[in-house]
Amino acid sequence: MGLPFFQISGNNRLRGTVRISGAKNAALPIMAACLLCEDEVILHDVPDVADVRFLADLLRKLGVEVERREDGALRLVVRDEMNCTAEYDIVRKMRASVCVLGPLLAKRHKAQVAMPGGCAIGDRPVDLHVRAMSLLGADIDLVSGDIVAKAKRLRGTEMFLGGPFGSTVLGTANAMMAAVLAEGTTVIEMAACEPEVVDLANFLVKCGASITGQGTPRIIIEGVKQLKGCEYRIIPDRIEAGTFMVAAAITNGELDLQNCRLDHLMAFVDRLSAIGVHVERKEDGTVNVSSARRLEPVQVTTQPFPGMPTDLQAQIMALLCLADGNSVITERIFPDRFLHVAELARMGARLHKAGPTVIVQGVKRLIGAPVMASDLRASAALVLAGLAARGATRVHRIYHIDRGYERIDEKLRAVGAEIERLEGDEE
Ligand code: EPZ
Repeated sequence: MGLPFFQISGNNRLRGTVRISGAKNAALPIMAACLLCEDEVILHDVPDVADVRFLADLLRKLGVEVERREDGALRLVVRDEMNCTAEYDIVRKMRASVCVLGPLLAKRHKAQVAMPGGCAIGDRPVDLHVRAMSLLGADIDLVSGDIVAKAKRLRGTEMFLGGPFGSTVLGTANAMMAAVLAEGTTVIEMAACEPEVVDLANFLVKCGASITGQGTPRIIIEGVKQLKGCEYRIIPDRIEAGTFMVAAAITNGELDLQNCRLDHLMAFVDRLSAIGVHVERKEDGTVNVSSARRLEPVQVTTQPFPGMPTDLQAQIMALLCLADGNSVITERIFPDRFLHVAELARMGARLHKAGPTVIVQGVKRLIGAPVMASDLRASAALVLAGLAARGATRVHRIYHIDRGYERIDEKLRAVGAEIERLEGDEE
């Protein structure tokens, strides 16, 4: 038995309604934040994706009972606080495991978390996470590739969390989760403003934390003695929504998206509008996406929120491959996040990479081919290209896509795509 892959027969217009799942990147830090809570936490709309299952396994090792209820909600209760270690075996599979660092340190006074290694989208240092813990008063050591942080009591402080590429999403999450139980006031300057950070702050507040300024570059946290549990609904996944917007546009189809927050997608929708894709909220609350036959070339630059998300860069590139002229895409968050370029080229795309920029020369059509997924969002771009291409596309290594998209093949099939999950050997 080989690995699963997607077999896509392209050139079908997609039509129908898709419900967007809860956001993976909001759910992961919120699940980690449950380590801070005294009572049971019930989370609604946690997507059933591989990364959530990885983190659930890590939390179980850390003494948390994690259970998916029949109604789909995730129930988490801390049962045992002895273990403070996130081992390399788990962290290497999923970088987001680093977000147990802040909660373990704050609640259990010690955290040993393996340093995440390299990653397909480029270097991903954690120096800002470590700096935040150290500024809050932790002693930090590096022991056999593990970050070991210890502190009897964390103390509130002012910190600047900017790095060479701007703010850090999970770094801000870690700092916030550590500071909620610290003594006194913490001010995080150049905090990430992403909706997922706001969602984490709102969850923590519902558990009894005192946080203001979430969604702005200055977050202020007054430490409290303890957090209780709560029941909470995770925000819709803006990256999944953006991916389905491109699916509608690239197939010249029309989709209605339920559970979609346009206020989280302003920069992306701005680029889509410039390309000629119509995105509009209907009276019933769904978001309708349709596109003009002719796609205009545009310039796209990824930036921290509220700018254009790096997690939609590969997908918009797939769309621009079919635009009527030359587009310019610049990656300002992860300058090496371009592994999809060579794979799209196998499908007839004309792409020229120069440093952190790719010139996309629009072509009339893409042609189906066997391609290899390299990371989560790159795989989504290849699926999108396959939906528009003439002929058959095989996307291999789809375990990448299963990490962050809930049943993407089923959702696409339900709106008219010909996509099958098969098993076999890689070509
Ligand atoms: C989050 O990663 C997301 N992951 C990523 O989504 C997303 O691409 C990224 O934010 C940017 O939006 C999760 O939320 C689980 P960062 P994160 O720290 O927090 C540099 C996906 O496909 N940096 O905001 O790890 C870093 O190298 C994933 O769902 C430092 O220099 O990203 C990058 O250039 C992939 N030092 C920039 O900051 C640090 O200590 C932003 O990264 C940390 C980061």
